[in-house]
Amino acid sequence: MTTVRDYIRTIADFPHEGIMFRDVTTLFADPRGFRMAIDQLLHPYAGTRFDTVVGLEARGFILGGAVAHQLSAGFVPVRKKGKLPGAVISESYTLEYGEAVVEVHDDAITPGDRILLVDDLLATGGTAEAGIRLMERLGAEIIGCAFIIDLPDLGGRTRLEALGMDVHALCS
Ligand code: PRP
Ligand code: ADE
Repeated sequence: MTTVRDYIRTIADFPHEGIMFRDVTTLFADPRGFRMAIDQLLHPYAGTRFDTVVGLEARGFILGGAVAHQLSAGFVPVRKKGKLPGAVISESYTLEYGEAVVEVHDDAITPGDRILLVDDLLATGGTAEAGIRLMERLGAEIIGCAFIIDLPDLGGRTRLEALGMDVHALCS
């Protein structure tokens, strides 16, 4: 049987030597693979009401849009610094291969909104934690954090669970 994992390709030494880059473009490009990924991301949340899906730049946008449509929820992007046109709040973070700042519009969420955070991959959890901090500052209720891939050796799941998050990943 073909699984989501079978559609993911690994590219060695990208973007830096020593990084095994898990490339989901091959999953997204396949009609069956993409549908399987969206269906499986949604699976634990059957019957759960969400106001908003929050996608982390960049691959979280591709997943988040499809997931939001399925949930009849809105979509809010968490973007890298300097990309959003309106007033923003920011969080800085460290990731597997660098440092960055993410931002969200300061009026993107109504306090109490029930949100699902979505990204392709959980590595150190730095990106997701920054997204969580942004959402908490805006008063969102984070119902779940969903990923295609968890890299357990990098500790992201443990880090998010220590924050009280419910973490769902399709493969590791
Ligand atoms: C990747 C991935 C996650 C993040 C995970 O994005 O899509 O967002 O890294 O790493 P972490 O758990 O250690 O924070 P990347 O920063 O490469 O940005 P991109 O999607 O814009 O290319
Ligand atoms: N983001 C952080 N680490 C990654 C990896 N190994 N593959 C793809 N995206 C990543």
